[in-house]
Amino acid sequence: MSTVTTGDDSSVAATSAAARPADPPLIEVRRLKRYFGSRQRPVRAVDDVSFAIRRGETLGLVGESGSGKSTIGRAVLRLIDCTAGQVLYRGEDIGTLSGERMRKLRSKLQIIFQDPYASLNPKMRIGAVLAEALSTHGLARGPGERERRIAELLELVGLRAEHARRYPHEFSGGQRQRIGVARALAVEPEFIVADEPLSALDVSIQAQVINLLADLRERLSLTLLFISHDLDVVEYLCDRVVVLYLGHVMEIAPTAELFARPLHPYTQALLAASPKPDPLVESVAVPLKGDIPSPVAPPSGCVFRTRCPHAIGACAETLPPLEEREPGRYSACIRTELIRTELIRTELIRTELIRIEPIDAELVDTHLTGPSAP
Ligand SMILES: Nc1ncnc2c1ncn2[C@@H]1O[C@H](COP(=O)(O)OP(=O)(O)OP(=O)(O)O)[C@@H](O)[C@H]1O
Ligand code: SF4
Ligand SMILES: [Mg+2]
Repeated sequence: MSTVTTGDDSSVAATSAAARPADPPLIEVRRLKRYFGSRQRPVRAVDDVSFAIRRGETLGLVGESGSGKSTIGRAVLRLIDCTAGQVLYRGEDIGTLSGERMRKLRSKLQIIFQDPYASLNPKMRIGAVLAEALSTHGLARGPGERERRIAELLELVGLRAEHARRYPHEFSGGQRQRIGVARALAVEPEFIVADEPLSALDVSIQAQVINLLADLRERLSLTLLFISHDLDVVEYLCDRVVVLYLGHVMEIAPTAELFARPLHPYTQALLAASPKPDPLVESVAVPLKGDIPSPVAPPSGCVFRTRCPHAIGACAETLPPLEEREPGRYSACIRTELIRTELIRTELIRTELIRIEPIDAELVDTHLTGPSAP
């Protein structure tokens, strides 16, 4: 696993220790659809997406621009309604909750926005921004208690109590994102959607905010849905990753396994296009060409087929289901077996375990599972 280092050269172990495979999901997204526009020609922004997030887990959501990441993030928090499907929080369908019940739940479900400046009222001092968040949810009643809590929040995100008196324009981009984090934490949430929280920041500041998130997640046992284009950060911060393309899930896998051996051709192409691709991934992936098709008229069958180097006629016929291919690893591709065999073969050639065709099935088994007992 890569590490992200702060300016002072300290680093934190990023992968959440709290997420255990046996934990029940805190959030469950079931067959979620979100269409925009007219019924006749809808924009199919999210089309039948399912995944779960365990308590304490950080789940990464990646995919090219327009793949539906933010729409999922907003639907999960019920900031927008679903066209179909359900979002369950602790087993309860949040789409069916009354206004009052949802208002109470709102404090548990928070969002950190991409652009910290745009999400802060320029005329409000930071203390007032945090006080508003507290009073909306009936927390920290009374001025003394409120001031104490505001100071505590600012210190929690690496700012100082006196910063409460300043206005947003008096802060740097990184400090404003810290304020965004403090505002989300003010209401003691359990679950946070972080939608591209780093993309408006200078690279030098990004590492500090990443490490802040990793640190707070551990200290406060937070569950995160982390939306990002930056695959290095996703590899560092996330326990598992959902790969999205044109509103559909292509692959779900534990982070280390996804980055070491991506099973879906789209994941392979995405990772190969990252700044520091793994040599194995680079040697099997075919770079992505052209643009993502319009979600108004997605391709028939597999939505990735118009850009997939492995596409065959059958790929146009039916939408491949997302199926478990290895324990905890899901891929939506009818050619997964072939792709996996090719990956293993390339891996063996790279490690010089085989030099000749055809592939030796026993050698492959040994490579995957280790030598069997005599
Ligand atoms: N309010 C809306 N009305 C119509 N179409 C929308 C609306 N919101 C999103 N879309 C469309 O839905 C699709 C998914 O958008 P979304 O913003 O979720 O993608 P994204 O993966 O977050 O992209 P980015 O990486 O650029 O933030 C896009 O085609 C987008 O144009
Ligand atoms: S189903 Fe076909 S088009 Fe889709 S990813 Fe697999 S091989 Fe490519
Ligand atoms: Mg987005």
